Amino acid sequence: MKIFSEKKQIQKYAEQIRKNRETIGFVPTMGALHDGHLSLVEQALENNDKVVVSIFVNPTQFDNPEDLKKYPRTLKDDTDRLASVSKDIVVYAPSTDDIYEGHTVADTFSFDGLEEEMEGQFRAGHFDGVGTIVKRLFEIIRPHCAYFGEKDFQQLMIVKKLVEKYDIPVEIVGCEIHREPSGLAMSSRNERLKPQFREAAPLIYKVLRTAKLKFGIESANKVTEWVQEQFDNQDLLKLEYFTIADTKTLKPIKRKTKKRNYRAFIAVYADDIRLIDNIALN
Ligand code: PAF
Repeated sequence: MKIFSEKKQIQKYAEQIRKNRETIGFVPTMGALHDGHLSLVEQALENNDKVVVSIFVNPTQFDNPEDLKKYPRTLKDDTDRLASVSKDIVVYAPSTDDIYEGHTVADTFSFDGLEEEMEGQFRAGHFDGVGTIVKRLFEIIRPHCAYFGEKDFQQLMIVKKLVEKYDIPVEIVGCEIHREPSGLAMSSRNERLKPQFREAAPLIYKVLRTAKLKFGIESANKVTEWVQEQFDNQDLLKLEYFTIADTKTLKPIKRKTKKRNYRAFIAVYADDIRLIDNIALN
C-alpha cells in the first residue's frame, strides 16, 4: 500500500490517475479508524477507480487543546486496517507543516449561517478549521467524489456549502451513520470511554429513536422537554444540547410543517468525552 506524507507526492500520484482518465474517491479522516470509516472507504472503492484516504489530526478544528492532545493517533493500526480492506488504497498522512507551511491558523469562512447553529455555538472556530483543511485537501488531491459520514451531519452540510461557494468540482457523498450493536454511533472517541460510560452511552440513540416517534404526535418543545428529563434522570451522561432543526437550513424548528424535513441533533458529555448523534425525523 502506498503511504505518502508529502503533498507533492500525493499531487503527482493523483495527477497521473486523472491523466489515465480514472476517477479518484477520497475519504478524509483524522485516523483512529473504525468500521464507520471503513464503510466510507468501501463505498468509495465501489464507485471509483482509485481511493485516497487522508489521515491527519487537524489542529485548527479543535477548540479544546486537551481534546487535541488526547485525540488517538494510531497510524500503523490505521494503515493495517486499510490494507486489510484493499492494498490499492493510497494513504496521505501529512505532517502539520506539510498542510499549514509553518502557519497553523484556520481561514475564515461564511457558510450562510450553517456554521452558527449547534456545534457552531459550542465549538468556537471549529467549522473554520474544518473548512480550511477540507478545502486544502480538495485542492491537493482534486478528487472526483468525497465521502463524509452523516454522524457529523452539520459538517456534511458545511462541506457541501464549501464546494458550492468555491465552485470546487467534487461530488460530496453523505453516508449513513454506522452504529455499534448497542446503537451507539461509531466514533474514534468511543475507544476512550470508561466501562460505565460505554454502558450508559447507548441511551443517546435510544432517546433519539423515541424522540422521533414522539415528534410524530407532539410539539417540538414537548419532545425537547422529554429528552432533557431522560438525561436529568441519570448521573453519567450530561446533555449539552438537543435541537430539532430544519434539515436544509439547520435552523431550529419554529412551527412544524409537513412541507419541511426535520432532524434531531444531540451532543452529550460522557465524562470528559463529547459524543454527538442525529436522526432524521420525517
Ligand atoms: O470528520 C472528520 O474526521 C474531520 O472533521 C475531517 C473531515 C477529516 C476534517 O479534518
